[in-house]
Amino acid sequence: MGLKDLDRKFAIAPMMEWTDRHCRFFHRLLTRRALIYTEMITTGAVLHGPRTRLLAHDPAEHPVALQLGGCESRQLAECARIAEAFGYDEVNLNIGCPSDRVREGRFGACLMAEPALVGDCVAAMTAAIKLPVTVKCRIGIDDQDPEEALEALTCAVERAGAAALIVHARKAWLDGLSPRENRNIPPLDYARVYRLKAAHPDLCIVLNGGIASLDQALAHLDCVDGVMMGRTAYQEPWQLLAVDPLLFGEPARFASRKAAAEALSPYIERELARGTRLHAVTRHVLGLFRGVPGARAFRRHLATEATKPAADAATFRAAIALIADLDAPTVAAA
Ligand SMILES: Cc1cc2nc3c(=O)[nH]c(=O)nc-3n(C[C@H](O)[C@H](O)[C@H](O)COP(=O)(O)O)c2cc1C
Repeated sequence: MGLKDLDRKFAIAPMMEWTDRHCRFFHRLLTRRALIYTEMITTGAVLHGPRTRLLAHDPAEHPVALQLGGCESRQLAECARIAEAFGYDEVNLNIGCPSDRVREGRFGACLMAEPALVGDCVAAMTAAIKLPVTVKCRIGIDDQDPEEALEALTCAVERAGAAALIVHARKAWLDGLSPRENRNIPPLDYARVYRLKAAHPDLCIVLNGGIASLDQALAHLDCVDGVMMGRTAYQEPWQLLAVDPLLFGEPARFASRKAAAEALSPYIERELARGTRLHAVTRHVLGLFRGVPGARAFRRHLATEATKPAADAATFRAAIALIADLDAPTVAAA
């Protein structure tokens, strides 16, 4: 696969404090084909922080995109070069985060009001690296008209050479809502994103926001090039087992959730040997058995036992043993 032609049909969203390297390794066990994103990392952190720790990822994670937060084109270009050297497959710019801290730094969602600046940033990044550069945005902020604001941003990033635009299909209201509320309260407007795709046939448009199942994902794929799933992928990771068969016509990685969980054990052992606490890995796995008898006991065991200093891979295996009907397949292995 060439660098510019990553398959963007299905992606797992960047989620701060959720999609860390352990989470990404686990998600990759569930689907070979999803494009996976890191949490947002600011240009300041990449340039001046503990870079190796922040950017480290497992070779198994590919294809994996690094999401950057920033607004200064030279710094973003330098961070893009660093991302390329670290082996990422794509660099993504965050134009969707509404938090006060991010806004004070003049990046994230408030950049929806500065399409020319975003264009400059994307142009600097695409000039600096061979990897695809993409942007993740909202349909608008505050009292912006999404018809105009999203169109202006799209034209700017398309002209600057972005390989794809990922649109969280709701506004961000920067005054008065917390980041969490900004993920739920502004209404979703999928039709606006469909119209954007129709108006920009040559730009890869990925739709994000509120996708709760792969059936919904498939329906959106009639109108856009790709879908990005966030909270559902994290809270119900078992759904990821169906991504490869349903969306790509390829065999599922595992025929059952149990098999997927067991496959995580060697990784856990490796990480524990490096000094990682068990809970740092297993906190991402809590939703794997959701809806299956024994799921609550599994979660409770991990919540109480995995946090103890002596917790090890056997603790994880003991949690798996609490699940009834372990071999029940969730998806047909194609
Ligand atoms: C805990 C959490 C952290 C998030 N952090 C980021 C982030 O770092 N960068 C980003 O672009 N979006 C972030 N988001 C937003 C998601 O990427 C996504 O746009 C949003 O959750 C809507 O998609 P969903 O309805 O499928 O979850 C975050 C969402 C959550 C729930």
